[in-house]
Amino acid sequence: MCMAYTIETGDLAKSFGKLPVLTGLDLAVEAGSVFALLGPNGAGKTTTVRILSTLLTADAGFARVAGHDVAREPVKVREALSLTGQYAAVDEVLTARENLALMARLRHLCRGPARRRVGELIERFGLQEAADRRVATYSGGMKRRLDLAMSLVSQPQVVVLDEPTTGLDPRSRRDVWDAVAELAASGATVLLTTQYLEEADRLADRIAVIDGGRVVAEGSADELKARLGDETVELFFADTLALEAAEREVGGSAEPQRLCLRVASDGSAEAIRRLLDQVGGVQRLQLHRPSLDDVFLSLTERV
Ligand SMILES: Nc1ncnc2c1ncn2[C@@H]1O[C@H](COP(=O)(O)OP(=O)(O)OP(=O)(O)O)[C@@H](O)[C@H]1O
Ligand SMILES: [Mg+2]
Repeated sequence: MCMAYTIETGDLAKSFGKLPVLTGLDLAVEAGSVFALLGPNGAGKTTTVRILSTLLTADAGFARVAGHDVAREPVKVREALSLTGQYAAVDEVLTARENLALMARLRHLCRGPARRRVGELIERFGLQEAADRRVATYSGGMKRRLDLAMSLVSQPQVVVLDEPTTGLDPRSRRDVWDAVAELAASGATVLLTTQYLEEADRLADRIAVIDGGRVVAEGSADELKARLGDETVELFFADTLALEAAEREVGGSAEPQRLCLRVASDGSAEAIRRLLDQVGGVQRLQLHRPSLDDVFLSLTERV
């Protein structure tokens, strides 16, 4: 059996009634990497996550987690994998310490190791001060961090996070990012879903953009950005005559309405200086670097 990938799906398909949700999804996630599934609402992210964590069965195709087929060996898959769902699943009446201890009991840890593990996780997720307070008094970000800690009680090989930062403020989001980075550093394979490009860019080694239930693009953030071409410099002129003269001089593509000439450039000071030496009459300039947002919009555009 090929063990190169910790998570692997092939031609995965799932419909709900007449609605096709996954239409041939192929994924390959390397061991120890962070992989982001990026897609708009309804793209099939949660459906994929539910199939991988054995909560839902696919109609066709295969999915393997840690070398085990999700349909044939669901128990083995559940042992290897921990899931943090799209909505926080902690008990608000209990404290963080009690929630974690409960999870440790469910995972059959003995008392000593359980207490040690709970202490470690409280520290790792920055919950020391709040650990003995009821979760009902926590902020959204603290609940999310506890949620992540809960899924790590048994040190899973594969961690699946469904939209770990949706609804969090920027500071809490950064806290969760740090936690995910720590997770990856500890050797776990992480699959996360997100609608935030910045998040995928920041956390993931590889990104699969999914739309309409299949992968429409896959690669590192840089590879995806490179698909949209290089940076361009936009040069703005006072009038059409100056614009046309510049176009004759250096080429590029002119936009007469905006009195603007777009020229490919690496954006370095040296290249810009050379360009300005060559072209007269530039009033203003602007760099345009394709962002992951541009990539996402161009890939998931509705026609
Ligand atoms: N149990 C179900 N029964 C019927 N339709 C479903 C069911 N689960 C999901 N769907 C539909 O499948 C499609 C994909 O849903 P899914 O939850 O996988 O999307 P998602 O990518 O996670 O979206 P979001 O970003 O909103 O979380 C949606 O149109 C949804 O309404
Ligand atoms: Mg979802």
